[in-house]
Amino acid sequence: MQNSISGFSKLSKTEKIDWLIQSYFYNDECAKSILTQYWNSDKKLQKLHDEFIENTITNFYLPLGVAPNFLINDHLYTIPMAIEESSVIAAASKAAKFWLNRGGFKAEVISTVKIGQVHFTYTGDKNVLHSFFNAIKSKLIADASDITKNMERRGGGILDIELRDKTGDLENYYQLHATFETLDAMGANFINSCLEQFANTFKIEAQNHDVDGIDVIMSILSNYVPECLVKAEVRCKIEDLKDKDIPEPYIFAKKFKQAITIAEIEPHRAVTHNKGVMNGIDAVVLATGNDFRAVEAGVHAYASKEGNYSSLTHCSIDNDEFCFWIEIPLALGTVGGLTSLHPLVKFALQLLQNPKARDLMKIVAVAGLAQNFAAVKSLTTTGIQQGHMKMHLMNILNQFDADETEKSELIEYFKTTTVTHSAVVEAITKLRSK
Ligand code: MEV
Repeated sequence: MQNSISGFSKLSKTEKIDWLIQSYFYNDECAKSILTQYWNSDKKLQKLHDEFIENTITNFYLPLGVAPNFLINDHLYTIPMAIEESSVIAAASKAAKFWLNRGGFKAEVISTVKIGQVHFTYTGDKNVLHSFFNAIKSKLIADASDITKNMERRGGGILDIELRDKTGDLENYYQLHATFETLDAMGANFINSCLEQFANTFKIEAQNHDVDGIDVIMSILSNYVPECLVKAEVRCKIEDLKDKDIPEPYIFAKKFKQAITIAEIEPHRAVTHNKGVMNGIDAVVLATGNDFRAVEAGVHAYASKEGNYSSLTHCSIDNDEFCFWIEIPLALGTVGGLTSLHPLVKFALQLLQNPKARDLMKIVAVAGLAQNFAAVKSLTTTGIQQGHMKMHLMNILNQFDADETEKSELIEYFKTTTVTHSAVVEAITKLRSK
């Protein structure tokens, strides 16, 4: 029986679960025990997780793995990654090792400016609006000083506020387009608080200056941050690309570059190509307690900045030198949010040697580049299924509840046999019928 309910959030955790089990699981005790099995026995730790969100019923685990051997600007990192996809960490580790012996990754932050906007409509004379804005611009900033003073003490704050006329796109539509430096914080709360204060001052001052016809629609940061930009690259002589998977480096380099060009010009391929980039990026963003939805939205918008969805990575071959790079917007924080709350996030940041936000931008961009390098290297040489299915083998064995003996026997067997779902089913059936 499925009921609507009011006051759900006021129920205790157990009451919420009881309601769910009664409404959707015919009072099945097994369904209930799945939820409680995932509660942490450390009550304080569980309470911390319960209080991250509303209506928590249990924890949802993802594996946290690490990819060692990342040499970034001559500094060695072991990168934490939270991800469920079998082959991602293996691929990242392989790419890290490959480039470790070829000079490693170089990364630089190009800029760190973040953006927020007060969207409003105005029906009066444009010149009046411009004069009014110029007259109150410093007051907009001054009225936010309670919010900005700590950030300013550390060297950040509001960079500028512009009045933008968007009436060419939408009748009567204008913006207060503000830019911010939020240092080591991702800055969403800081920016949104400033914007709401700008909107308040704007409305009050409009009355004080007898400016009629302003209607504030909303005030919100933008997750499109094309000025919060990081670049990461690898480069080496083509002949140095040679390894056991790349017996003919010149042929490899040419094909690899072609694959990147295809992703640059063909949106269907670009989306999958960038999905591979995001395999690396999201996993580190998540492990370090950052907002992967914000990063995803901003990165994909950036991938479309020329009007067509395109590759986030690029490749050049000049004078027999192979260069592969990524340039992406990343609004990340290493203070605030979950960073000092979630014990595993704290661990991940410590593992990365307590990076500044700028360092984390570089690390995350490198993880994306490495992931893409590994994917495109496989795609243009062996194909991805060989490696992917090897990693996925364990998932299939677990689906069949294989015990340790069965697992080791089948892992051995599939070292020399192609892994497909049906081949695994056949092998396990055969083994069990012995
Ligand atoms: C799979 O998660 C990601 C890839 O499809 C990326 C790509 O095709 O470049 C392998």
